[in-house]
Amino acid sequence: MSHKRVAILISGGGSNMLALLDSMVGDHPARPCLVLSNDPKAGGLARAAARGVPVAAVDHRPFKGDRAAFEAELLKPLEAAEPDIVCLAGFMRVLTGDFVSRFQGRMLNIHPSLLPKYTGLHTHARALEAGDAEHGCTVHEVTAVLDDGPILGQARVPVLDGDTPEALAARVLEQEHRLYPEVLRRFAEGRRDPVRLG
Ligand code: GAR
Repeated sequence: MSHKRVAILISGGGSNMLALLDSMVGDHPARPCLVLSNDPKAGGLARAAARGVPVAAVDHRPFKGDRAAFEAELLKPLEAAEPDIVCLAGFMRVLTGDFVSRFQGRMLNIHPSLLPKYTGLHTHARALEAGDAEHGCTVHEVTAVLDDGPILGQARVPVLDGDTPEALAARVLEQEHRLYPEVLRRFAEGRRDPVRLG
């Protein structure tokens, strides 16, 4: 059996990326082919390289908001790696419809809320402000609409008395590290029925 090739896009420390890398061993149907960042200083790049995974970075800043030009550069290492599946894992740049359509049906994202609630930023603070009893994270297929697309899995956590955005974020992140590998494995096996955790 030939393994599915997985590219992972990050912007920061890459804890979800590491959870994905650590899962792709043994009888897992996929293997990592690239970790790519829009920030050459992203801590996750060194952590991936230390595990022997090819890494690349394309700094978005010199492009000064010219998304098409940035994405043209980002595509070079990404297409050279010939991924079957692209995982966004804490990748904090919004991608254009053109870019997304190249990977239609094979690009995943993890978002720290129970979508369709709280697309965009500051999801933990917004869940607390709304007085929600539960919060969580979602893995979904990426479409041209931000934080939209078919849901492939969700994990729920209770909101506790006295929770702060930071405390809640930490508990959600633990669940992200369970959920994303579970969804990726199933997705690589061709399964799209949603995973429900928590
Ligand atoms: C994660 O909580 C992820 O869900 C979130 O950023 C964090 C990245 O952490 N992603 C988004 O907010 C995407 N809009 P990590 O770098 O340690 O995986």
